[in-house]
Amino acid sequence: MSIDLLLGLQWGDEGKGKIVDYVTNDYDIIARFQGGPNAGHTLEFDGIKHVLHTIPSGIFHKNAINLVGNGVVIDPVIFQKEIKALKKYNIDLKERLFISRKAHLILPTHRLLDAASETAKGKAKIGSTLKGIGPTYMDKTGRNGIRVGDLESENWKAKYRDLAEKHLSMIKYFNVDIQYDLQELENEFFKGVQSLQDLTFIDSENYLSKAIKDKKSILAEGAQGSLLDIDFGTYPFVTSSTTTAAGACTGLGVAPNRIKAVFGIFKAYTTRVGSGPFPTELDDDYGRKMAKVGNEFGATTGRPRRCGWLDLVALKYAIEVNGVTQLMMMKADVLSGFDQLKVATHYEYRGEKIDHLPYSIEADDVKPIYKTLNGWKKDLTKTTKEEQIPQALSEYIGFIEEEVGIPIHLVSVGPDREQTIMREKKSREVV
Ligand code: IMP
Repeated sequence: MSIDLLLGLQWGDEGKGKIVDYVTNDYDIIARFQGGPNAGHTLEFDGIKHVLHTIPSGIFHKNAINLVGNGVVIDPVIFQKEIKALKKYNIDLKERLFISRKAHLILPTHRLLDAASETAKGKAKIGSTLKGIGPTYMDKTGRNGIRVGDLESENWKAKYRDLAEKHLSMIKYFNVDIQYDLQELENEFFKGVQSLQDLTFIDSENYLSKAIKDKKSILAEGAQGSLLDIDFGTYPFVTSSTTTAAGACTGLGVAPNRIKAVFGIFKAYTTRVGSGPFPTELDDDYGRKMAKVGNEFGATTGRPRRCGWLDLVALKYAIEVNGVTQLMMMKADVLSGFDQLKVATHYEYRGEKIDHLPYSIEADDVKPIYKTLNGWKKDLTKTTKEEQIPQALSEYIGFIEEEVGIPIHLVSVGPDREQTIMREKKSREVV
């Protein structure tokens, strides 16, 4: 059996959580492979909204095993809160939620380092969620990190102390005013670690290898978006992990030839939270309407998201880098009522018309070239069948498919599981 992969094609917040939750019934195992609590995956069903940060989005489905892979970084404090929020659902977490021993831990001092580094950057700050993601991955690649498997050894606290002390001296180096009570932070960290220790730690690459042999179906769930990838994103305004398809191989320990379907999730428009270039960004009533109707506020930080038109130059790039086999378009309902819609098909790059993503997409270098399409008036939030889609939306979908050369199998018209239109047979079956 093989692994299917689901990832975001823009700057995150595409709606991956909803889709993982929607397709989970088809899978035995849902595995997160990168990122950490900087992610906020929102799921909505039965009138209740759930936000998950580290726990995979298949946790509400009775039979799915949820796996936090080695590529993920875990903050025990946030993890404990997520577990607490799940208590009322009576999920047997010991049996249904497994954690890779090779996943790295976010220490309280990683968070402080993140804050110190961002403060020191001043206007050039990344706009990090300040969850300690960058410093934790730095310790991972610098070969200093503490891993979940270390919690099974006697002397892990000594290792913790050494690393925390090192971080404290690094924080001094930044010479910025960061207020904190280390004692309090450490108390909650050690409590978080205790609750983590109640869960099941596994050698996840072996587990997955066996699961593949046993013909289990596996979905790898990405976090953030392709344009935030450490290599292929809008560096340095990116996150510190591989958010693209290759990250599933390194973040789970599965070989590239095991990956079959690659589901690419994108919004019908574009959003970005945090700093960094955004060629199709709108600072006008259209942008404000997208933000308002789309409720565009970060699920993790509550920060308002920047909004703009769909950027096909960037979308095509993400499709290529990830080898996307089918697309899922989210939040089409948000565009209802716009008299016209624009879609960027090319950039004017230093005086030349190009259709690929260049090295720099800073405003000084690129200007988007748009195709204008008709808008539609119909409220889509109760639409559940393809036949009910207004003509202008069909044309919008058709235009995108033609430009990028990949079919759109699913159109989402609201946050609820029910507000989903399958355009053909169930996505996984048609690959
Ligand atoms: P960090 O990963 O928290 O350090 O943030 C780095 C950049 O990625 C910032 O611009 C964040 O706003 C952005 N980012 C991180 N995680 C997410 C996410 O889950 N959704 C959207 N943007 C994110």
